[in-house]
Amino acid sequence: MTAEKTLSPVTVEVHLDQSEWSSHLAEETRDGLLADPPWIPPVWFYDELGSELFDAITRLPEYYPTEAERSILAERADEIASVTGAQTLAELGSGTSDKTKLLLDALERGGTLERFAPFDCSEEILRDASSSISADRPGIAVHAVVGDFHEHLDGLPTDGVCLLAFLGSTIGNLDPAQRKTFLAEVASTLDDDDWFLLGTDLVKPVDRLVRAYDDAEGVTARFNINALSVMNDELGADFDPGSIEHRSVWNAEESRIEMHLVSLCDQRVSIPGLRGLHLEVPEGRHLRTEISTKFTSAQVETELAAAGLAVHEAWTDRSGDFQLTLARLA
Ligand code: AVJ
Repeated sequence: MTAEKTLSPVTVEVHLDQSEWSSHLAEETRDGLLADPPWIPPVWFYDELGSELFDAITRLPEYYPTEAERSILAERADEIASVTGAQTLAELGSGTSDKTKLLLDALERGGTLERFAPFDCSEEILRDASSSISADRPGIAVHAVVGDFHEHLDGLPTDGVCLLAFLGSTIGNLDPAQRKTFLAEVASTLDDDDWFLLGTDLVKPVDRLVRAYDDAEGVTARFNINALSVMNDELGADFDPGSIEHRSVWNAEESRIEMHLVSLCDQRVSIPGLRGLHLEVPEGRHLRTEISTKFTSAQVETELAAAGLAVHEAWTDRSGDFQLTLARLA
């Protein structure tokens, strides 16, 4: 079910039927809510308000990862461009960030860049990102791929040397089994001369990690609770966002921050969009909404190696908070 639509010079290749994707997400959410402990997939964060709140999070004093990763790229993008000599920059995620622009600029300065291939599960987000990048960079073809990165990475264009970037420590949102599958998928997508650029947040004192996900202004709390409003809008649920509280919890065993929503009273929630699910939520029940794994440098290397990927070079920011790793097939 691959449809090619050309809006010269932007190509959007759709591997994901948006209505099938919606029912897949609904099933995943239903399974998550019925699991023990219950969880909600992070997709429900990102309506318009949620995207604005996330943007605000990236500018919070407590939330260091965005700026830390940006500073590494600002310092190393030209080096990455000359080491890789990439013709294609492929990026998992929408690809409109400052960080994407640093990479595109460096590859253009290096004179190798021919195309940008953003990959995302939302066709709308990709179309917006594609036209804005294409308007700013007339010399570059934009070949966008709408897909699920658990399934459709092979839809990425493979001509020339490709630099596949997965930034923002989004890999930390996957659990160990999902990371293993995902990295194996990445490795099978890469040719011998291609590169993988991975951003990972690093382990650090727990109080700083907890505060990064529970800021003084309460932006992260609003971001987390907004997921319930989005589920109310899109699934016809009747969560009362006022009777649920945000928590940032360190899970030492899994080396990750977890965002939870904690019910402040006994409540019954009905969710028509999840095949009429009725959910008893007792006071004090935790619903986990997002995991954000924190890595050591050695752990990154080990997980890459298990997928057949070798670290070519790794850089951290000045404070050692965040790591950017350039890898390729071993
Ligand atoms: C962009 C998904 C990696 O896990 O740090 C920030 C999302 N959630 N604050 C992260 C997030 C709450 C962020 N990721």
